[in-house]
Amino acid sequence: MAELLLKVEQVSVSYGAVQALDSVSLEVKEGEIVALLGANGAGKSTLLKSVMRMVPLKQGVISFRGENLSHSRTSGIVKKGMALVPEGRGILGTMSVKENLEMGAFHRTDWESDLKHVLELFPILSERLHQHAGTLSGGEQQMLAIGRAILSAPRLLLLDEPSLGLAPKIIQNIFKLIQKINSDGISILLIEQNAHMAIKVAHRAYVLETGHIVASGLAHEISSDEELKKAYLGG
Ligand SMILES: Nc1ncnc2c1ncn2[C@@H]1O[C@H](COP(=O)(O)OP(=O)(O)OP(=O)(O)O)[C@@H](O)[C@H]1O
Ligand SMILES: [Mg+2]
Repeated sequence: MAELLLKVEQVSVSYGAVQALDSVSLEVKEGEIVALLGANGAGKSTLLKSVMRMVPLKQGVISFRGENLSHSRTSGIVKKGMALVPEGRGILGTMSVKENLEMGAFHRTDWESDLKHVLELFPILSERLHQHAGTLSGGEQQMLAIGRAILSAPRLLLLDEPSLGLAPKIIQNIFKLIQKINSDGISILLIEQNAHMAIKVAHRAYVLETGHIVASGLAHEISSDEELKKAYLGG
């Protein structure tokens, strides 16, 4: 049986008076692509931030490979094998593409062969290695953000809306790369508003609505449920 990587149990998060997550539970197993769908403000980014301990939990437990992360820091969580590609990508524009990639490997000494692998995955980055990252196009910056996360050698990659702001052709390319990364052995928790595309690549999906999980199941079950289709998949 596949190993349980991430377990989120009854997690609640508040920002002052705003309750962003209300008793949310979900799991990601080894080998899976799991989609987390939901409208603007549903709490998707907050969930990923709470997994990486970038926001405090009001309630609940998050564990990775059976280990409770309550006392871990973000950098420690990266070392344990989770990496976040954040909303807005988090590229440092005045640093070179290479320096941005190196940051992903901050805790590693043996990453040169992985850099080669990332440059094979995203050939455009090898042509741009010494350029300021801020001069890259949106799609290239997204590839850089994903490449940087891969260089931390994650077991589980958390992707926050990788398709946001990109042209349809580039989005298709990004989704293909997500599948390739998964078939290379990295599990993925994928946040998307582009629900149609996400459901196509995901094995399972959860639907978040104003801080609550309102549906979950195999991706094809979610996409064939007429009510969910109307509410979340644009008919
Ligand atoms: N730092 C913050 N301070 C106060 N409220 C916040 C903060 N961050 C998020 N919120 C609120 O928490 C709720 C969930 O936000 P979150 O960013 O997790 O949503 P999301 O599902 O990622 O939305 P989007 O699709 O727009 O990125 C929203 O109502 C948002 O306004
Ligand atoms: Mg968000």
